[in-house]
Amino acid sequence: MELKLLILVSSCLAIFSAVVGADYVRPPPRKTLDFPWTPRSSSSPRQVHVSLAGEKHMRISWVTDDKSAPSHVHYGTMLGRYEFVAQGESTSYSYLLYKSGKIHHVVIGPLEDDKVYYYKCGGEDPEFHLKTPPAKLPVTFAVAGDLGQSGWTKSTLDHIYRCDYDVHLLPGDLSYADYMQRKWDTFGELVQPLASARPWMVTEGNHEEELIPLVKDGFLSYNARWKMPHEESGSDSNLYYSFNVAGVHVMMLGSYADYSENSEQYRWLMKDLSKVNREKTPWLVASFHVPWYNSNFAHQGEGEEMKRAMEPLLYAAGVDIVLVGHVHAYERSTRVYKGKLNPCGPVHITIGDGGNREGLAHRYHEPQPEWSAFREASFGHGELEFVNASHALWSWLRNDDDEPMRADHVWISSLGSLGCLNGQRRALGKILTALHP
Ligand SMILES: *[C@@H]1O[C@H](CO)[C@@H](O)[C@H](O)[C@H]1NC(C)=O
Ligand SMILES: [Fe+2]
Repeated sequence: MELKLLILVSSCLAIFSAVVGADYVRPPPRKTLDFPWTPRSSSSPRQVHVSLAGEKHMRISWVTDDKSAPSHVHYGTMLGRYEFVAQGESTSYSYLLYKSGKIHHVVIGPLEDDKVYYYKCGGEDPEFHLKTPPAKLPVTFAVAGDLGQSGWTKSTLDHIYRCDYDVHLLPGDLSYADYMQRKWDTFGELVQPLASARPWMVTEGNHEEELIPLVKDGFLSYNARWKMPHEESGSDSNLYYSFNVAGVHVMMLGSYADYSENSEQYRWLMKDLSKVNREKTPWLVASFHVPWYNSNFAHQGEGEEMKRAMEPLLYAAGVDIVLVGHVHAYERSTRVYKGKLNPCGPVHITIGDGGNREGLAHRYHEPQPEWSAFREASFGHGELEFVNASHALWSWLRNDDDEPMRADHVWISSLGSLGCLNGQRRALGKILTALHP
């Protein structure tokens, strides 16, 4: 009796606090979704997703069971009529007893900006459509890391579907397949409605590695399935690359690739930064998996080494915003550098709350560090709208019992508009000449 009353009271409290947005009672993790494997013609495209592939180009990726299915895409700007055709490449891999389907990658373009294209993969139904990003600001990113494929993932994806965005950014931990290769296929199916319509730009997390020492290299499945524009951006690894969209230059870095000052990644990053033109891309964003600023107990300190190696470079380059995942919670920092508030440092945002089966990271260090502006362990996603060269609006939408609720938002001023860039360009110049005298 007493127990019943307690449950009644606490569930009323939960409803009440969800309404007022105060102490939201966080839901438990949800199970991995079941996917009945519907039989289809073996050349019919599955797991369709698209990504940016250099200026005015996009890469269409899909999987067929049929190993002889062609790797070409018919596309055009009118429903059911395809003026263009592009030929691409394919790959496949095996992993212990598992054999992947044929994984196709086809680059299409040049494409017009901010335009809907209709396309068919390998000449097969159904027809898909995508929208290219705009050439100029404003541009909107949807951001969700550590997605997985649980009931909460579905909730997050439903919310993103309702948002009017141009590019999806995923800072690592996609499928949570964790060696079960079939789960990569079901993840591809789960995200297809979104990922076939807007570019999905991803970087790797620990769940992508799937390394078996002496037997299987790391990132085998990830690299085969989620090919990102590393060649187009001068990187020789799919684990780090960059892209431009509208007025934003985004560097997708690798927490699981060597990042020391003598590494390929570091050298590539310096070269990439030296090419950035702030007139053309006033905003500079970096994204990777393991946070450098994290006041949660989960994964505490894991980002320290990479931070020590790369933070001075990102600071000198004038990075505006850093988007990371890994910790299954949400946290936003003030502008910060080397642990101290700094008006010319980046804003760090941990958004590893996409909804995977592992659940939330509830425990925080007290007191809340000075640099930590907002933190909460709930599922959700972020929306980042770059309005113009000086203003961006960041919003965090919590999955409030399956309803998206904007629980945090903040206007971010660009470092350019804050007068931070002159000194920083000089500092970057110094770093570049010190390393390449
Ligand atoms: C940029 O957008 C902000 C927010 O909407 C606005 O207040 C500001 O005037 C805009 N700046 C310019 C130069 O248009
Ligand atoms: Fe992770």
